[in-house]
Amino acid sequence: MTKVSVIGAGAVGATCADVISYRQLADEVVVLDIREGFAEGKALDIYQTSSLLDFKTSVVGSTNDYTKTANSDVVVITSGLPRKPGMTREELIGTNANIVKGVTENVLKHSPNAIIVVISNPMDTMTYLTLKTSGIDKHRIIGMGGLLDSARFKGYLGLALNAKTADISATVIGGHGDTTMIPLTRLAALNGVPVSQFLSADQLKQISADTMVGGATLTKLLGTSAWYAPGAAGALLVENIVRDQKRMMPCCVALDGEYGQKDICMGVPVVIGKNGWEKIVDYKLNAEEQEAFNKSADAVRNMNDVLATLGL
Ligand code: APR
Repeated sequence: MTKVSVIGAGAVGATCADVISYRQLADEVVVLDIREGFAEGKALDIYQTSSLLDFKTSVVGSTNDYTKTANSDVVVITSGLPRKPGMTREELIGTNANIVKGVTENVLKHSPNAIIVVISNPMDTMTYLTLKTSGIDKHRIIGMGGLLDSARFKGYLGLALNAKTADISATVIGGHGDTTMIPLTRLAALNGVPVSQFLSADQLKQISADTMVGGATLTKLLGTSAWYAPGAAGALLVENIVRDQKRMMPCCVALDGEYGQKDICMGVPVVIGKNGWEKIVDYKLNAEEQEAFNKSADAVRNMNDVLATLGL
C-alpha cells in the first residue's frame, strides 16, 4: 500500500493532493492542516470527484492530527504563508521556517522512513533547514522548486515556438528565487534540436527573464502565489518516488562538492527513485553558467544564514 501525506491543505497542498488522488499515485492520501476542519473539507471535496474522474484513492483529512499520517511513504510539505504581490519568496522566511521545522518533527515522529518533499518558500532554505534539523539521510529530502521553474521555462518556450511543451526539454537550475534561478537556455531543445535554431537571441533572453519572474508575474495577477503548477510539480515528484521511475529532474538537494558547492541545498539535475534522490548529474556547465551558479549559491547561503538569527 502506498501512502502519501500532504501537509498544508491550502491552494498548493490541495492541488497536489488532488493530482495525486485522481492520477492514483497512492492508495491513500492524507491532507493535514492546522485550520480546524479545513483539510477534512478539502479531502472530502477531492474524494467526491472520484466517480467523476474515475479513481479509487482514499482521501483523508486531518486537523493537525499526525497519527493519521503514520507510515507515509512520502510527505509533501506545503504549510506556510504564500507570497503577496510585490513580496519576494525570501521575505517569508521568518514565519515559514518555524512552521516547516515543527511540521517536519511531527511528520518524522509518525513516518520515520518517509521521503520529504519541500514546497514551502523560500524553498532552498526550507530544504536546507529540513536537512539540518531532521538529521535524516540527505537523499530523503528533496525541494521541488527546479521542477516548477523548468515547467514555466518550457511553458514560455512552448508559446514562442508554438510547440507542444512535452516535445521540449529545458532545465532551470540554481536557487528558486526571482534573481537566483538559472534557465539553461544553451541546453534547451525541441526534440533534440537546440532552441537557438528557431528563436533569436533576444527572444531567448526574454524567455529566460520571464521564467525567472514567472512566480512573481502570477502573484501579481492572482493576488497570492500560484498553485496549479506548483501542486502538479509536487505530484510529479511524488510519482517518480512512489513508482521508482529513476527519471532525471531538477530538484533542490544537498550539495557536497557537486557543482562546486558544499553545505547548501540548491537545484541541480538529479535521478529520483523510491529512496529519494539517488545521484546528481553533472551537466558540465560552461564558465558563464558556473559563475551564475556560484552567484546563486551566495544568495541562497545569505538566506540560510538568516536561520541562525531566528535561533534555528
Ligand atoms: N501545520 C499545518 N498547516 C499549516 C501550518 C502548520 N503549522 N501553518 C500553516 N498551515 C497551513 C495554513 O492553514 C494554510 O491552509 O498552510 C496552508 C497554506 O496554504 P495557502 O495559504 O493557501 O498557501 P499556498 O498558496 O498553498 O502556499 C503554500 O507553498 O508555494 C509555496 O510560497 C508558497 O510557502 C507557500 C506554500
